[in-house]
Amino acid sequence: MAAIVTRALSKTYKVIGKAAVRSLRGLDLEIAENEVFGFVGRNGAGKTTTIKLLCGLIHPSSGGASLFGEDIRLREARRLVGYMPEQPYFYEYLTPRETLTFYGRLRGLSAAQRQAQWDRVAGLLELEDIADRRIRGFSKGMRQRVGFAVALVGDPPLLILDEPMSGLDPIGRRMIREAILRLRDEGKTIFFSSHVLSDVEELCDRIGMLVEGRLVHHGRVDELPGRRMKEVEVSAEGLDGAAAATLVARSAGHRQIDQVHLFRVADLENANALAAEILAAGGRIRELQPVRESLDDFFARIQQKEAAK
Ligand SMILES: Nc1ncnc2c1ncn2[C@@H]1O[C@H](COP(=O)(O)OP(=O)(O)OP(=O)(O)O)[C@@H](O)[C@H]1O
Ligand SMILES: [Mg+2]
Repeated sequence: MAAIVTRALSKTYKVIGKAAVRSLRGLDLEIAENEVFGFVGRNGAGKTTTIKLLCGLIHPSSGGASLFGEDIRLREARRLVGYMPEQPYFYEYLTPRETLTFYGRLRGLSAAQRQAQWDRVAGLLELEDIADRRIRGFSKGMRQRVGFAVALVGDPPLLILDEPMSGLDPIGRRMIREAILRLRDEGKTIFFSSHVLSDVEELCDRIGMLVEGRLVHHGRVDELPGRRMKEVEVSAEGLDGAAAATLVARSAGHRQIDQVHLFRVADLENANALAAEILAAGGRIRELQPVRESLDDFFARIQQKEAAK
């Protein structure tokens, strides 16, 4: 069964005296169980709106969704989700340990279960050294970890995280990335939004991209339609000066590092032709490397195309 299904899910915010904002327009999405799904889009694209709808914090204007088959309007659906908001809100006078105890009680966990949960979550998010300090004085990164920990209370099968890596230093980001992968390996389904495309690329099975409330792209990162392969780099060695000079003239770009030649050609076909010539000239191929358009470039291009519609 799919972990998340949305059908024409839409949200229009009506503010008195202002034009209505169509924040989400007919979202159709299916996230499989145990999938890691990344949700991207510019500021104001509708990511948080979608996440709040899925968590039952706001209600759809039309359309609907279900989590593991449970309608999001029902409490049963809520029980299956751990949610981390964009700006986690805490009782500032509590410590992380007390905070998790509080949420554990809300989830109806026994004292023994709360202790077991603390051990698990504190290890995963390295909370031990801040366990008994008041949250009031916490940095952004510490708050982020506590926010993530709260989402894990009660061990829900689905985690919905709104920008879990935002504002973190590289070590903090790695910790969150590793936590997400560990949770995936435990069988959880993870849906998160992010602006950090390299994290998305590294973590996600599939991604979805929103532009002005519409889903314009979704699929596996390596199979995104129209993601251009820019060029191919052919790395070769064992070429003498004359042979190298001929090949340099045939390629779109060339660099030489010690005895290794790096030729750039337009596509795989040219790369194959060049490779044949290299071999014929007595050289050896070290590597054929497709140079793909970066995810950042891809999204910038799609964004422009969609905005121009
Ligand atoms: N409570 C609200 N009332 C009116 N408009 C809202 C409300 N919440 C969000 N919006 C509007 O809905 C649109 C989508 O906002 P949303 O917060 O979902 O974007 P986002 O993709 O999460 O952006 P960001 O990357 O900045 O977090 C925006 O135009 C925003 O102004
Ligand atoms: Mg947001």
